[in-house]
Amino acid sequence: MTIEILQTGKLLASCEKSLAERYTVHKLHEQADPASWLAANSARIRAIAGGAVDAALMDALPNLEIIANFGVGYDNIDTKAARTRNIRVTNTPDVLNDAVADLAIGLMLALGRRIVLADKFVRDGKWPGTNFGLSSELTGKTVGILGLGRIGKEIANRAQALKMRVVYFGRHRQPTVPHIYYDNLEDMARDCDWMIVVAPGGKSTEGIVSRQVLEALGPAGRLVNVARGTLVDETAMLDLLRSGGLGGAALDVFLDEPNVPEGLFALDNVVLNPHHASATPETRDAMGALLVQNLDAHFAGDPLPSAVV
Ligand code: NAP
Ligand code: 8YV
Repeated sequence: MTIEILQTGKLLASCEKSLAERYTVHKLHEQADPASWLAANSARIRAIAGGAVDAALMDALPNLEIIANFGVGYDNIDTKAARTRNIRVTNTPDVLNDAVADLAIGLMLALGRRIVLADKFVRDGKWPGTNFGLSSELTGKTVGILGLGRIGKEIANRAQALKMRVVYFGRHRQPTVPHIYYDNLEDMARDCDWMIVVAPGGKSTEGIVSRQVLEALGPAGRLVNVARGTLVDETAMLDLLRSGGLGGAALDVFLDEPNVPEGLFALDNVVLNPHHASATPETRDAMGALLVQNLDAHFAGDPLPSAVV
């Protein structure tokens, strides 16, 4: 008898194929009436693959043993509820570091060098007879990384290759890291030309990039967010971008995805992306493979490759 697992959202085709080869997969998101489906079938489900899982869903699945998340960030899973119910949780760290770091640097270049606007300038036929003007280079500038973890360190490597000075903020100083450490985010913002946000979402970081932090980054400062929308005071950010109190923002993530505050659309000092920092075939395949490895290890009684609970 194959093990029965539940998918809560669409996954990558390669990941869905691997899961179907090993398990009997039920797709909750494709059920016309998910609540009735759960009432009739919940006792057979031993694992969840991917997606958001709250305590109510855990309670609806009395034999749930493991939640294998598709993503390194697991702020979409109530880990406290999982722990108290002895449900294991896994994520997909490391395999996406390079793709996310690449996009963070790409966003910085796009905003600083005005690449998106320059493309539009050419396409609109404005080049003949007009000068596009100057843009800002990264060389010699200071970039502050909020969250110098697995991805943050890859961003730092790339920033150094671009001849930038790197500083960082987190809860702990990292003794083996050569960059200057700030234990106060506002102080770091004051020292930065660029701030890149790449710490986990969730309660402990909610609104950490506050109005005060954005004001400290200032009129010449630019913000890049590849973490979660919850870390930034989005209302304050929009106000300051409009008034010139903040120089610019390049954003891959937002508070209420896929809805983006429309006020941002009218601004020239922003670059907007649809939460796709890990979205390359190489990286998404590797994330899917790691999700499947975690489930396989759990059901084989082996150590989990990437457990968070
Ligand atoms: P990681 O290795 O765990 O690094 C997280 C860093 O954040 C650590 O340096 C940690 O340092 C710091 N941090 C944690 N909690 C903090 C807090 N309360 N205040 C300040 N700093 C804190 O994580 P990662 O693998 O690099 O991933 C980081 C995040 O990126 C993920 O959680 C996810 O949300 C996001 N992400 C987004 C995308 C995308 O598509 N845009 C893709 C992948 C990941 P301290 O312990 O010293 O505080
Ligand atoms: C994914 C991410 O886009 O890993 C993360 O934390 O945010 C991204 O890699 C997401 O998890 C899948 O939808």
